[in-house]
Amino acid sequence: MTDTNLQKYDGVAMLLHWVTAVLMIVMIFFGEDLMGEGEEAGEAAGAAVSTFLPSIHVSIGVTILVLTVLRLLWRVMNPPPPYPATMKPWEVTVSKVTHLLFYVLMIGLPLTGWLAFPEFLRETPAMSGVTVFGLFPLPVAPAFGEFGGEVHEIGSNAAMVLVILHVLAALKHQFIDHDTILRRMSPH
Ligand code: HEM
Repeated sequence: MTDTNLQKYDGVAMLLHWVTAVLMIVMIFFGEDLMGEGEEAGEAAGAAVSTFLPSIHVSIGVTILVLTVLRLLWRVMNPPPPYPATMKPWEVTVSKVTHLLFYVLMIGLPLTGWLAFPEFLRETPAMSGVTVFGLFPLPVAPAFGEFGGEVHEIGSNAAMVLVILHVLAALKHQFIDHDTILRRMSPH
């Protein structure tokens, strides 16, 4: 498409969006499986334990947190393009609320995961070997009992619903409204 008036997100915003999107989708659909290795180890006390998959879960979570902080800083300095004039006010409101909730979850999920870790560790002490990218052990968070884990689980379910809505909205804009929304976030 050669629409020279098309106002798009800048390259850095797009890169941060798509890298974070892949990581979030992996965590939403496979995050529990990645942690499962630790839970099974706790059940089978004395069995050989690998912290490999739980470390991947934790490392992706830390990456999402760091990328989201960078993304918010970048966004403040480089505001996104204005919405197309064809969008109805309610659509703009729903879009803004969805994006805000995503940012809350992309920061809140890693943090509540960290808060959930002490309880996880209490049940499966071998998980003290979990590291961030094999570089350093995860610093131990203050203990909040089951609270962190419960909020973390509710948050990940909410993220799954939001991602589905967000993708459906992108498809609606592309194939029903035929507007520029998807192209604004696409490199070509
Ligand atoms: C295949 C999956 C996805 C598609 C097709 C998609 C598509 C889009 C599009 C087209 C926009 C730009 C909307 C506009 O023009 O204002 C956007 C923005 C956004 N997306 Fe996605 N997205 C996907 C996955 C995700 C995921 C998994 C997340 C995070 C959990 C996410 C978070 C966001 C956020 C926060 C914005 C707003 C960016 C900003 O203005 O700061 N997206 N997405």
